[in-house]
Amino acid sequence: MNGNGTIQMPPQASTIASDVDALYYFIFWGCTFFFVLIVALSIFFIIRYRRTPDRELKPRAYHNTPLELTWTIVPTILVMVVFVWGFKGFMHLSVAPANSLEYHVTGKRWLWEVRDPNGVASVNEMSVPVNQPVKLILKSEDLIHSFFVPAFRIKQDVIPNRYNTMWFEATMPGDYDLFCTEYCGTGHSTMLGKVHVLTEEEWKEYQEKSGGKQPDETLAEYGRRLYQGRACVTCHSLDGSKMTGPSFQGIFGHEVDLADGSRVTVDENYIRQSIMEPKSQVVAGFEPVMPTYTGLLSPDDIDALVEFIKEQK
Ligand code: CUA
Repeated sequence: MNGNGTIQMPPQASTIASDVDALYYFIFWGCTFFFVLIVALSIFFIIRYRRTPDRELKPRAYHNTPLELTWTIVPTILVMVVFVWGFKGFMHLSVAPANSLEYHVTGKRWLWEVRDPNGVASVNEMSVPVNQPVKLILKSEDLIHSFFVPAFRIKQDVIPNRYNTMWFEATMPGDYDLFCTEYCGTGHSTMLGKVHVLTEEEWKEYQEKSGGKQPDETLAEYGRRLYQGRACVTCHSLDGSKMTGPSFQGIFGHEVDLADGSRVTVDENYIRQSIMEPKSQVVAGFEPVMPTYTGLLSPDDIDALVEFIKEQK
């Protein structure tokens, strides 16, 4: 058991989490109770009424009205409780409050693209204010993904050619895991993200800072922020270690072997090409799993990333 009376559950970080857990535990403990009762009685009856040479076979009982009514009515009440409770929760979750902040979320092979209410895009990350309803408008660019934040107890399939919606209201500032929970191919496990729940103050600061280079930072510093915020960090290390993609350490100005056998020098054009059309020039020894960032990064953003990569000596 942890602090909020749950077993092996993430923290309850949204307004609906405790209700979802309560229903879950009602079903869990109900099933546990009947499992133990039925197995224990079965074992008891098998031993108590087992056939022995001195025991005669009795005629079987075929009908017992009070007993049959009991085993019909009690389970019916129990499943109706589960149904009504679950349906009320489902309806509550289906209709977002009118004052919700709207976020557009796109699932694609293999990342989450999130646009906040101001239209600022980020990858595998979203920042939301605490104690304010947030509505998600979900779509997919290719196949079925599923948006899942365990701490909020919300999960919704993300489907091509239609919008799905979902909402939550976070109750505790902090960082919470975001998963794709529908197996969607080679890069499924890289569709990991974080939901940052910000305090009122942090939220104000986020709104001022988000979107573009700040006057007080260099291009390379802005590039580092993009490297972290647009999820490059998930697959590209800075210390030379091999992750899903090649490390950025010491690559600029050097030649690399490509999967097709050719060699190329890592310069501004190669970096830009690799961001916009990642599958066109894959480095030997790596899978072509990187998604395109076309439309997600402006030409200025790419300049900043190039400057940042240049600095990784
Ligand atoms: Cu997207 Cu799994």
